[in-house]
Amino acid sequence: MKNDELVIDVKGLTKRFGDKTVVNGISLKVRKGEICGFLGPNGSGKTTTIRMICGLLQPDAGEGVCLGKNVLTESNEVKRNVGYMTQRFSMYEDLTIRENLDFIARIYEVEKRKEKVEKSFLRLGLTDRSDQLAGQLSGGWKQRLALASCLLHEPKLLLLDEPTAGVDPKARREFWDEIHLLAEEGITTLVSTHYMDEAERCNRLAYIAYGNILVEGTGEDIVQASGISSWRIRGENLGGLVAELKQLPGVNQVAAFGNTLHVSGKNRGLIGESILSIQHRGYQCEEIKPGLEDVFISLMATVKEKIK
Ligand SMILES: Nc1ncnc2c1ncn2[C@@H]1O[C@H](COP(=O)(O)OP(=O)(O)OP(=O)(O)O)[C@@H](O)[C@H]1O
Ligand SMILES: [Mg+2]
Repeated sequence: MKNDELVIDVKGLTKRFGDKTVVNGISLKVRKGEICGFLGPNGSGKTTTIRMICGLLQPDAGEGVCLGKNVLTESNEVKRNVGYMTQRFSMYEDLTIRENLDFIARIYEVEKRKEKVEKSFLRLGLTDRSDQLAGQLSGGWKQRLALASCLLHEPKLLLLDEPTAGVDPKARREFWDEIHLLAEEGITTLVSTHYMDEAERCNRLAYIAYGNILVEGTGEDIVQASGISSWRIRGENLGGLVAELKQLPGVNQVAAFGNTLHVSGKNRGLIGESILSIQHRGYQCEEIKPGLEDVFISLMATVKEKIK
């Protein structure tokens, strides 16, 4: 496989449930070894798209290839070859870690099963806990077990659907370190998340809303292209300033971050003037680099206006 090879190459994927179109002609390309983040609000169509890519859900329209297999006509092969981690924990809670992994390895008819299961304990640090019931594990360990189970058959593509929801920062960081190690081994990942720190660890991002991809690119590209300017304000009684700031020209968002306010807007000139108009009252104001969160919230506001 060449490094520029596309592991996912789908276009026009569409899914309707009843009269509602929940995925509306999505096209997505992911290269080998890339970590692609899939972002978007609740109900925007991430899980539905992932399920169409991995062959679990038949699209109503669209076509494409995943791991060299046609997602419409070779969905069984696609299913067998991807590692899919579902949004909800789907291990057997009344089986131990060992029993769960052994069971999955049997389903996938993994060769040298016992050896592979032992290896996966080691890789994900599960050895000491191998006889613990899956249902008794903490969130972080559950998610490690789920990752171990979708790696057993040595897939070249991981589809991870909010793999770290509700997991503490240390466990999330370790999980992401593992995804980066896998990427170095040439394993491609498409991962959905609501966490912006995780988005920043992806090579590329696609942001979806109402079933459409609104923007894609590297985090840097997306921030740059958004044209958003952000300012940080420090001072006394910031709580009282929020409502006032929201009324000022050019101000689209005001959010409290610890003891500061972050103010963002699309028109750099206008927001700059508005900031100047309050600065003389003793507030310390400095322009900062906008974050991805500012960009996505602003994007959603624009889309909502269009929909109205
Ligand atoms: N089997 C189904 N039947 C009917 N509607 C469905 C079905 N599956 C999903 N939907 C609807 O499709 C829309 C998209 O759902 P989806 O689960 O893909 O969103 P999501 O982006 O993964 O959201 P979240 O971030 O909450 O996981 C939602 O409105 C959901 O209610
Ligand atoms: Mg989902």
